[in-house]
Amino acid sequence: MIKSIYAGKGKSKYEILITGKNIQKTQLNKYLNKNRKILLITDDGVPKLHLKKILRLIDKKKKVFVHTLKKGERSKSISSYENILHELIDLKFDRTDCLIALGGGVVGDVTGFCAATYLRGIDYIQIPTTLLAQVDSSVGGKTAINTAHGKNLIGSFYNPKFVLISTSFLDTLPLNQFKSGLGEVVKYAFIGNSKLRKIVRDNPKKILSKDEKVLKLIIEESIKTKSQVVTNDEKEQGVRAILNFGHTFGHAIEGYSNYKNITHGAAITLGMVIASKVSLLEGHIDQSQMTQVLEILESLELDTNYQKYKYSDLKKYFISDKKVADGKLNLILIDKNFKAFKTDKFLNKNIQKAMN
Ligand SMILES: NC(=O)c1ccc[n+]([C@@H]2O[C@H](COP(=O)([O-])OP(=O)(O)OC[C@H]3O[C@@H](n4cnc5c(N)ncnc54)[C@H](O)[C@@H]3O)[C@@H](O)[C@H]2O)c1
Repeated sequence: MIKSIYAGKGKSKYEILITGKNIQKTQLNKYLNKNRKILLITDDGVPKLHLKKILRLIDKKKKVFVHTLKKGERSKSISSYENILHELIDLKFDRTDCLIALGGGVVGDVTGFCAATYLRGIDYIQIPTTLLAQVDSSVGGKTAINTAHGKNLIGSFYNPKFVLISTSFLDTLPLNQFKSGLGEVVKYAFIGNSKLRKIVRDNPKKILSKDEKVLKLIIEESIKTKSQVVTNDEKEQGVRAILNFGHTFGHAIEGYSNYKNITHGAAITLGMVIASKVSLLEGHIDQSQMTQVLEILESLELDTNYQKYKYSDLKKYFISDKKVADGKLNLILIDKNFKAFKTDKFLNKNIQKAMN
């Protein structure tokens, strides 16, 4: 069964289509009708078979160009952005033309930012090929590039025209990248999606063996939660903050590790364990819930041991976190119903205690 979920409001509402292994030509081309030229952006870590598959699906009447970035976070840069924009100018792209992002969150974020700013905005389609991009970064319209001063410092909120998700891309995804996406899936399970929590709890083996039916289910439930939250709060002025459960600590771990040797999802997983521990120490959840958090993560073979990260090492990264408002750190914690909430009312010593 093919599932469609919608996100966004009014004119910027868009379809997120979740298919299994087969993608029909019409599913993609109905969104390319008015577009004459297409620049497909990918990176050299995305296996070529996925690119070939998408190129085969695009209507032969369209002029398609391919721009390949180097794989990795370093490509979310001002120079990639500049190169792509110059290419669009050279190819004389106008507002009837379109970009396609075929890749993980890196490709999606850069492509989205190019689309948002070229000629003050042209269409773009997300075809996410990592689990993380499928359940998280391709939906919600956050686009960004990094600077030497930090991650995602330049960007915009700009919704795609369409998101096409196929489980077929996940066949080639390395285990560490797959687990990185699972970290985000579990996040939705902990911040309010009880159906997803049950699916994950009941099917860890099928998830780890990439069973297509279960994969589609967990992607669908993740997207349902993400699309609902981002549609209610497109520009992160309120409820969207709950999507950052685990992120204050996770970003600190990534920053401390210089974004090396740990995937985004793995850092967020550790961040969720710390945030759950703080929730426990603050009296919002009980020990049995804390045990559930650990059991679910461990059943998916995700690393929950954050002992090598010390409070004294991570502290400075909390302060520079985007969730600091008026000098006060805001944390996303969970309550007894596994619902996330934002608060600046917590004892600092409980963060220290959680990390000891
Ligand atoms: N916009 C948002 O809302 C949002 C949300 C979360 C994360 N992000 C961003 O997403 C980025 C991380 O994304 P990511 O985890 O997808 O990493 P990524 O884009 O770097 O992809 C990880 C690696 O997997 C490779 N790859 C991609 N698809 C593959 C496939 N099907 N088979 C084999 N290899 C494949 C890539 O070439 C890359 O080497 C970060 O920059 C983060 O800031 C954005």
